[in-house]
Amino acid sequence: MEIRKAVIPVAGLGTRLLPATKSMPKEMLAVGRKPVVQYVVEEMEACGLKDILFVTGRSKRTIEDHFDFNSELYSNLVGTGKRDLLESLSFENMEATFFYVRQAQPKGLGHAIMQARDFVGNEDFVVALGDSIICEDGKRLLETMLEAKKERNAEAVIAVQAVPWEEVHHYGIVKPLSGQSGAVVDLASIIEKPSKNEAPSNLAVAARYIFSPLIFDMLERTLTDKRGELQVTDAIESLIRQGKRVCVVVMQGKQKRYDIGNYLSYYKAFIDFAMSDPDYGQDLRHYVEKALQGE
Ligand code: UTP
Repeated sequence: MEIRKAVIPVAGLGTRLLPATKSMPKEMLAVGRKPVVQYVVEEMEACGLKDILFVTGRSKRTIEDHFDFNSELYSNLVGTGKRDLLESLSFENMEATFFYVRQAQPKGLGHAIMQARDFVGNEDFVVALGDSIICEDGKRLLETMLEAKKERNAEAVIAVQAVPWEEVHHYGIVKPLSGQSGAVVDLASIIEKPSKNEAPSNLAVAARYIFSPLIFDMLERTLTDKRGELQVTDAIESLIRQGKRVCVVVMQGKQKRYDIGNYLSYYKAFIDFAMSDPDYGQDLRHYVEKALQGE
């Protein structure tokens, strides 16, 4: 059966981006001309995922509003002859159906995914973090993941990217089965935020997952960590321990993940997107060059 459901968790507090995120979701921060979460939704739709569930929380209302048709704005733009601006709202007509469920308290990504159990039912599904943009030139990362899920008959497929060894303690880090290499490999284990010495590789989980519904059974049995959060990494490790097949797709070449979870990577993402803006990118590049020369 084709995978058609995507779950986008957007219920986190985003504390690393305070004060910007005090009353505004980090997933609604603009990167270039669009809010982060719009890139995520467009990526899902382009891969044929038409049923999209947002796991939302308090202060996340603007996400629902963003994907809703705004008749007042539409009439205003038509009435004032601003048809060109209407085009920027064409995403409102995308062929996707949106669903929402609340995570009452932000108790971790694993807990957010648990809220999707009724929506998912008996089907395989995608999880795409609402604060991460995947940029690609050519074949889509998620397409490769969907193919791998089918071909390898895995219980989970996870996107990973190589990160500097100094940064492994920020991520879930995977250990591929020995002897395997290439773009798709099976996993021997996974560990959440290891120290540089503990890390079995520098391949970090990169915001996109595909799961079979078995992940819910694993999550149900997983204990919360010392911060009271339910980690999906621990549930994935349980799948592997039970002898289930889990594989990773390693991000290649020009594929890039922007994590809009801290200011440094948010600024980097904004600069990259703004500099490739069709109308203003060129001027902005000149501006930045001059600014760097101290003019
Ligand atoms: P993060 O791991 O960046 O956590 O979430 P966070 O709580 O949003 O941010 P900080 O650490 O306080 O700065 C990754 C993605 O998972 C969602 C977030 O909304 C984000 O899109 N998430 C995280 C949830 O939906 N629920 C949670 O309990 C935690």
